[in-house]
Amino acid sequence: MILILLGAPGAGKGTQAEALATATGAAHIATGDLFRAEIAAGSALGLEAKSFIDAGKLVPDAVTIGMISSRLAEPDARNRVILDGFPRNVEQAEALDAALAHSARTATAILLEVDRDALVARISGRRICSGCSRSYHLTKNPPKHEGTCDACGGALTMRSDDAPETVAARMTNQLAALDDVIAFYRASSRLQVVDGEGEIGEVGVRLARAAAAVGLHE
Ligand code: AP5
Ligand code: MG
Repeated sequence: MILILLGAPGAGKGTQAEALATATGAAHIATGDLFRAEIAAGSALGLEAKSFIDAGKLVPDAVTIGMISSRLAEPDARNRVILDGFPRNVEQAEALDAALAHSARTATAILLEVDRDALVARISGRRICSGCSRSYHLTKNPPKHEGTCDACGGALTMRSDDAPETVAARMTNQLAALDDVIAFYRASSRLQVVDGEGEIGEVGVRLARAAAAVGLHE
């Protein structure tokens, strides 16, 4: 099955998807991480995506859908997958359904619901690992050793799109499309809502329960 983790920028998708993937053995696929890896590699796709990401806009569907289709065809993604950051608009949601139409796999969504003021506080304290993309927070989820990733020892950095003006643009440009995606999955009875407020561990417990209820794990 494909579990889609929906949520606004900073809602905790990456943090929770990583923990849930580790706990369940599902593959965690995050479009933002894929784009950042392409940018770091200096690929043509990365170069194209960067201008949109830095402007807080969605990368065009043709680029995004092509990239995610290739990733979903890889061996580790043939069974259970947690999608983080995709789909981001109705066109992407329809493309995913079309891709799954001739397979036995289904896609269902869980929304992590978080108040807007909390989102900005979370994003401003975020640091990510330049090696493995793991997400930290200066006070809410600090690494054991300042500036260093617990998992791989990589250096922690700020995301370029976490600058305040870009965060504001991401909210302005992307929240309406998120509402459309929520409505899309709600209309086909494929949406669960999980309270994303509170400590990371508490949210994780609620999410794991919801994920089990939709069949990701036992
Ligand atoms: P992407 O990387 O997906 O960014 P996003 O959706 O804006 O979400 P974030 O990664 O900012 O937040 P998150 O929900 O993962 O939160 P996190 O767990 O890190 O996309 C980046 C860009 O790429 C987009 O703007 C777009 O341009 C492009 N893009 C990506 N996908 C695309 C698509 N499908 N189509 C087109 N374009 C696309 O947590 C945030 C912080 O809060 C961390 O510091 C964390 O430690 C902390 N935190 C987490 N949970 C809690 C908690 N419960 N309490 C306190 N702090 C917490
Ligand atoms: Mg993320």
